Amino acid sequence: MCGIVGLVNGHPVARDLVAALRRLEYRGHDSAGIAVAGERLDTHKVLGRARDLSALVAAADPAGHAGIGHTRWATHGRAELRNAHPHCFGGVAVVHNGIIENHAELRAALREAGHDFASETDSEVVPHLIAEALAAGADPLSALADVCDVLEGSFALAVLVEEVPDAIFVARRGSPLLVATGDRVAAVASDAVAFAGLPVRFAALADGEVAELSHDGLRFAVQIAEARAWSAPPVAAGTGAAGGFAHDTRREIAEQRAALEATATGLAALDLPGAVRDATRLTVVACGSSLLAAGVARDAIERATRIPVELEVASEYRDRHAAPAAGGVALLVSQSGETADSLAAMDRQEAHGCPTIGVVNVTASAIGRRAAGAELGVAATKSFTAQLLALMTLGLRMGRARGTIEAGFDAALSAALDAAPALVEAAQAAEPDCIAIARRIATEGEALFIGRGAGAALAGEGALKLKELSYIRAEGYAAGELKHGPIALIREGSPVIAIAPGGPGLPKLLANMSAVRARGAHVVALTDAAGAAACRGAADGVLVLPGASAEEAPFAAAVALQLIAYHVALLLGRDVDRPRNLAKSVTVE
Ligand code: M6R
Repeated sequence: MCGIVGLVNGHPVARDLVAALRRLEYRGHDSAGIAVAGERLDTHKVLGRARDLSALVAAADPAGHAGIGHTRWATHGRAELRNAHPHCFGGVAVVHNGIIENHAELRAALREAGHDFASETDSEVVPHLIAEALAAGADPLSALADVCDVLEGSFALAVLVEEVPDAIFVARRGSPLLVATGDRVAAVASDAVAFAGLPVRFAALADGEVAELSHDGLRFAVQIAEARAWSAPPVAAGTGAAGGFAHDTRREIAEQRAALEATATGLAALDLPGAVRDATRLTVVACGSSLLAAGVARDAIERATRIPVELEVASEYRDRHAAPAAGGVALLVSQSGETADSLAAMDRQEAHGCPTIGVVNVTASAIGRRAAGAELGVAATKSFTAQLLALMTLGLRMGRARGTIEAGFDAALSAALDAAPALVEAAQAAEPDCIAIARRIATEGEALFIGRGAGAALAGEGALKLKELSYIRAEGYAAGELKHGPIALIREGSPVIAIAPGGPGLPKLLANMSAVRARGAHVVALTDAAGAAACRGAADGVLVLPGASAEEAPFAAAVALQLIAYHVALLLGRDVDRPRNLAKSVTVE
């Protein structure tokens, strides 16, 4: 979370920094700011979106050829201008991503030495500490290395020092940071999208490295990586409404067919690792929508492979006491591939010697180039259905390799995976019905999503999507659990969305729907042709989605749930692409 960028170039960098921040904004958008080195450090900050920096920077037109920038996701201190980065002290400007866990002790010690602070942030101690080290005679690179030694927690830092106006000093521990170099140009950023359009190649800074970036390239105070994998920057993705759509989120809902086709192509070239083929259990570790995608795919994987699939919340899993079961394999599912909780869980797996497989949507990786493609909206949409396709494909491939999948299920699952791209496209036609459902939810100000099996996980995803885009309180429940407590929430008119495709689970779900309806709920069933007739008797509204089997149903239902959440958010005037309090890459624990 938080996006940081730095640039040293042969011409003024301020406008390029703002452009890069706009591309990094999905990492946080509470405030944005830049500092540029000239005769003195020139700092510009705004509360809110990076686009609002453009006018400030155009008016000031700072001349410096080196600068740093930051887009913030608040952790310490409210979203206020005084807490916006860069933080400056004594000719030192700093942007920080991560959390300095010992900031209170450091602040207290600095206060005793006469320092005053302008912000409530943990980050502000860093420029003070560097300024102290410089005053004691250290050069900027060793000053930063020494300061890193006293910091606890996670950090990616980019530092500008007034006395060295053509260099940026960088360091990382835990939080991601990439460095880029070219002919008399150098850059640093949290994410490769910041380098789009720059004539550079980029690589990851290794954990613990401290370096100086200048026209002459990289110079290290602490160097850990012996060799680096250098890549070309990605092509610039849009930063706003694209392709005739009002929002990136809506465009990404619409482009799921292409995303799924690309994902299927990438998966076709992938060899099933031996450890996965022979696994005695799969433990999926993930967060948010990524975990819910695994929940939807679990039934299919278990049926194909005959091994248990456990679902673990990454932020909880990392602190579990029991060791992973022998013979098990962990599947880390993450759109961004950067989620701190998932990375910590991965560390735990590796410490126990347990094989770990990543299912990611990272465009810099070989598989990623054939994955769903950059997702700019904070809400997972096309990455969710792409994860679903990837996980169900994994189940099919494992089932075949192990010889455990029955012929009939092999045929049904293969057909569903082949049909998925067309299904997510055909489901877009449900938009008018989704708008009608959205109107009721927006009016009532609440929603309950229910389902059974894969439908229960989809219910969770429907509720999550609604919460994050519209800020309406929503619950997603396994329908059979309602009677154990949540049914008390039902009142006259409560909107209930049932994920109700035809299949063996439907009769019990119909009974659950009837029970909430009997208590005044307004029930809408998201079903398919096989379930439509039965649902008509148990719901107030029925939306018949495309799909010819229980394996196909989740793809169309996911799109309908996305459209419902999107339209509730529109009706309530929310910032769809940048929902409050959220960031796309969650790099703090
Ligand atoms: O990048 P990841 O898939 O690891 O992110 C996990 C969650 O933060 C993410 O899925 C989040 O729940 C979505 N933005 C929800 O739409």
